[in-house]
Amino acid sequence: MALARTWSVGLAGVQGAMVEVEVDLAAGLPTVVLVGLPDAVVRQSVDRVRAAVVNTGHDFPLRRVTIGLSPAAMPKQGSGFDLALAVAVLAGVEVLPAAAVRDLVLLGELGLDGSLRAVRGVLPAVLAAARAGHRCVVVPQDNADEAGLVEGIEVLGAATLGQVVGHLAGRARIPAHVRAAPAPLPPGPDLADVVGQAAGRRAVEVAAAGGHHLFLSGPPGAGKTMLAERLPGLLPPLDEQAALEVTAIASIAGTLPPGAPLVTRPTFESPHHSATMAALVGAGRGRSGRAPCAARTAVCCSSTRRRSSPGRCWTRSASRWSAVR
Ligand SMILES: Nc1ncnc2c1ncn2[C@@H]1O[C@H](COP(=O)(O)OP(=O)(O)OP(=O)(O)O)[C@@H](O)[C@H]1O
Ligand SMILES: [Mg+2]
Repeated sequence: MALARTWSVGLAGVQGAMVEVEVDLAAGLPTVVLVGLPDAVVRQSVDRVRAAVVNTGHDFPLRRVTIGLSPAAMPKQGSGFDLALAVAVLAGVEVLPAAAVRDLVLLGELGLDGSLRAVRGVLPAVLAAARAGHRCVVVPQDNADEAGLVEGIEVLGAATLGQVVGHLAGRARIPAHVRAAPAPLPPGPDLADVVGQAAGRRAVEVAAAGGHHLFLSGPPGAGKTMLAERLPGLLPPLDEQAALEVTAIASIAGTLPPGAPLVTRPTFESPHHSATMAALVGAGRGRSGRAPCAARTAVCCSSTRRRSSPGRCWTRSASRWSAVR
């Protein structure tokens, strides 16, 4: 009997949760059993992993393979477990040393050819791994910048399963990802663009200075959204903790810009006036709503259903919700 263990990370809301991946190889008819509340995407990872392992030049074990994702009662979603499953299987058949993968954290989706593809939510996953005391995480190359934002954990960015196997077998080391220097913030929308509207501009400035709610009312096209959009530019940059929080939520929402710089400016969210409560606060399936995306920032919700009705706009300045009409 062969048993191998490694780690990956699932998402519980907008936070990462450590998931231990165990693989047991036993005598019996060739089959793969996956346990630990996998969703449809995780269940299908068995086929991706099998193809990726074979196309990387290794044999997939023709035995009874049981894969356990622990904690068993936590629902597992998404394709980010693929790499951990493949590595655990290869450790089970002793292609990789079990000790080399025991405390490793692996994230990423596998292509059938063994390529490693980017996944959402890498930043909160790496934050969780660092908090849990892990010292090294392997992520897809395209997620390495995002993962590198976390201090205190070594990040290895890989493009293929073959590279990860070569590294763990000690043949070709993957160099640790070096955190890039933060790029200067591009200029955001400026209040200088607003023509007139002296009272509205003053109200936005007072709301930003005091962290007050703001309620704007006016005919369609009067500039309510324009004013609210410029509120984040008046707020101070996010501190390190808040910036990581906002960037992690953007990572889950899949809205992190290429290069994954740390989001240091309060963001602006403008959900549709007909957005449901679930769309606003998130539905707990690893997808964030618009309100958490706008944590510590300004939110604007514009509602102009009929041209004759006044527009409405809600903003959230600093840490409180406000309604603007
Ligand atoms: N005071 C202003 N200065 C410069 N441009 C303006 C001004 N007011 C409106 N605009 C222009 O009109 C456009 C529409 O304004 P905006 O979307 O802010 O209106 P609104 O009050 O939010 O309307 P609605 O009620 O339909 O949401 C802006 O994108 C901007 O180009
Ligand atoms: Mg508007």
